[in-house]
Amino acid sequence: MNRSKISIIGGGFVGSTCAQGLLNRDLGDIVLLDIEESMVQGRSLDLLQSSALMTPRIQINGTADYKNIQDSDIVVITAGQARKPGMSRDELQNINAKIVIQVCEQIKKQAPQSCVIVVTNPLDVMTYVAWKTLGFPSDRVIGMAGVLDSARFKTFVAQELNVSVRDVQAFVLGGHGDTMVLLPRLCHVGGIPLSELLSKERIDSLVERAKKGGAEIVSLLKTSSAYYAPALSVVEMVESILKDQKRILPCSTLLKGEYGVTDLFMGVLCLLGTKGVEKIMEFSMSVEEKAQFQNSVLAVKKQVQQLRGLV
Ligand code: NAI
Ligand code: 2OP
Repeated sequence: MNRSKISIIGGGFVGSTCAQGLLNRDLGDIVLLDIEESMVQGRSLDLLQSSALMTPRIQINGTADYKNIQDSDIVVITAGQARKPGMSRDELQNINAKIVIQVCEQIKKQAPQSCVIVVTNPLDVMTYVAWKTLGFPSDRVIGMAGVLDSARFKTFVAQELNVSVRDVQAFVLGGHGDTMVLLPRLCHVGGIPLSELLSKERIDSLVERAKKGGAEIVSLLKTSSAYYAPALSVVEMVESILKDQKRILPCSTLLKGEYGVTDLFMGVLCLLGTKGVEKIMEFSMSVEEKAQFQNSVLAVKKQVQQLRGLV
């Protein structure tokens, strides 16, 4: 059986930790590409040597040459700048849009059949920029954020109740930013609705903490943003696609009328299989949830409008 090939563009904190996660699960051979060639060669060599202690068949190639990403099944884009303390995700927009456009022009040439997962912030806008530049069908251009935001909320719920996080089910929709939509109504712990286990005040405070989960980590790390949980969130998505697991995960995808929205990438529940986003799992929202989602739609729309002729 042919081994899968996964290329990661951007070998910084998220990219290299993602390579480590893919390697740990033996999901395929990896290319780690960065403009900082020596850095990415060093990280790749270190990762390759770590594989001698677990899965020796793995190949990992650190490079600055896009020819090496040819025939990739999946390309993950983490290239760009990370948020610094006090910097909003939106401020990153113009710098990162230019990087994502350059990167996608190369992916289009070298790996036209790949499924592309975007991580670079501001996430929903950068996924839109990637889709426009690549010209791929929208089911093969997917943004990662909801898996991470949901992992954060699940962690806080599990800590609060002192239960295993494996028994907490929750998901976060909308744009990856201050307007993200947490749906405590649909959060269950061991099958029990969260509202039966915690007061509204406690739930509201966990929701607020999850919404600010990225900023909390930036303020502690000071010189970078989160990367362990973001990287493993990407790995979850890659695994579902490569193994055709058909997991239902919150991802940023192009809406074509779902929830009354068109021509915008937003976080919704997606079924991920070999073809990428194989289905959007739409469900009925309450009036309040719809209003929150709409608010998030407006925020992402405003960011897209600020691209000013870039795509
Ligand atoms: P980092 O600064 O550690 O890594 C970024 C890498 O991109 C650097 O190694 C840099 O040399 C490289 N790079 C810059 N321009 C490039 C180009 N044109 N081609 C190839 N490589 C290029 O940053 P980190 O922490 O890895 O974050 C990466 C991005 O992911 C940021 O935009 C960050 O905000 C975003 N992010 C998004 C998350 C999400 O939930 N969607 C979660 C965490 C981070
Ligand atoms: C996060 O949520 C920085 O978007 C990134 O951690």
